[in-house]
Amino acid sequence: MASRAPRHGPSWTLGELEAVAQRSVDGRIWGYIQGGAGAERTQSANEAAFLRWVLVPEALAGVRSVDLSTSLLGTRVGSPFFVAPTAYHREVHPEGERAVAAAAGDLGVLATYSTLSSDSLEEIAAASGEGPRWFQLYFQPEPATSVELVRRAERAGYGAIVVTVDTPILGSRDRQERSGFALGRPVPIGNGPSVRTPPRGPSWDGGAYELGDAAEANWAALEAVRKATTLPLVVKGVLSPGAARRAVEVGANAVIVSNHGGRQLDLAPATLDALPGVVREVGRHVEVYLDGGVRRGSDVAVALALGARAVGVGRPVLWALAAGGQAGVDRYLRLLGTEVANTLVQLGCSSVSAVDRSLIRPAPAEAPRATEGPGTGRATVLHRPDAPQPTGRPRRG
Ligand SMILES: Cc1cc2nc3c(=O)[nH]c(=O)nc-3n(C[C@H](O)[C@H](O)[C@H](O)COP(=O)(O)O)c2cc1C
Repeated sequence: MASRAPRHGPSWTLGELEAVAQRSVDGRIWGYIQGGAGAERTQSANEAAFLRWVLVPEALAGVRSVDLSTSLLGTRVGSPFFVAPTAYHREVHPEGERAVAAAAGDLGVLATYSTLSSDSLEEIAAASGEGPRWFQLYFQPEPATSVELVRRAERAGYGAIVVTVDTPILGSRDRQERSGFALGRPVPIGNGPSVRTPPRGPSWDGGAYELGDAAEANWAALEAVRKATTLPLVVKGVLSPGAARRAVEVGANAVIVSNHGGRQLDLAPATLDALPGVVREVGRHVEVYLDGGVRRGSDVAVALALGARAVGVGRPVLWALAAGGQAGVDRYLRLLGTEVANTLVQLGCSSVSAVDRSLIRPAPAEAPRATEGPGTGRATVLHRPDAPQPTGRPRRG
């Protein structure tokens, strides 16, 4: 598809993409993208969790090539990272989800598209070409609307249904509220006028807090989706072994350890901290993915080493889209792929499947560590000496 050319050439770093994105979008949209729930403690914790690990390079490993491809639910994909579902891409760039679809599709990177996409799921499918794509479902107040969305996704060649289970109600998002997002015109939804966003709910007035005609967000609703389709079912938003077990009992083929990028429950656990428990519980039965705070290639390697089969990236894709449309997203996905490949070479791995727990160690507990914003894609975070310190097993040969 035609693309707005990147304004500063093709060599943007992640920090530059973030900075250009901030200049490119309205302040309300920026508040919507960047904000998390409450005081954003979970959002910060997602990134901070990666600092509690170090990667141990393999000396003189002699790796000459790296294969980043892997299979996710039986589909061959180009990378162990995927595009996490995020809403309203046309608010970020006029090319909308189609730009993401074209960029990810060209590279064979799996992309997941939101119920709340600006382009319709059929338009997105057309822009994806042969690219792997999954459809993310928010339960709808009318179960028939959920089923209709699933049917449309089946017809449009989506490879899995990703049901998000952490959003019975939208998180209380201070930064988004302050920015004034959604106070202006209603944001159009490409999948049609019958599609609803998760409820914000009324203000508490000292009495009962009713959710009105909100969708039934319960295990029976998940079971109904399971029964409605033969496509693989992915459950997004589990943070505990118990929830993961329950999802598998209902028939999930994969789970995504996710706290919605820290946008739902402030003080929910960081996803990297929640990952090992979920992997222990269900990792032998289903694929386990993670999203939240993944920014650099080294983050991808840490998550894979802790048992994730793949990781999702949310905000960086939106930065890339805002900064340069399809070309921006292409730039970011290539950048991340290059970083992952670079990391793997230094770890002595020639393929994704070679990444395991032996490649990482807990970071030294005593050293406070800080990294800063643009250029790193990281907020300032401090290492917590009281953090759990899992033990590593000895390195391979
Ligand atoms: C602006 C924005 C919109 C999002 N919209 C959705 C959505 O529609 N459906 C969904 O399941 N998750 C949504 N998410 C959550 C992402 O899928 C993902 O869990 C999160 O962004 C990962 O964290 P990261 O942004 O730190 O990579 C959204 C996240 C952001 C930042």
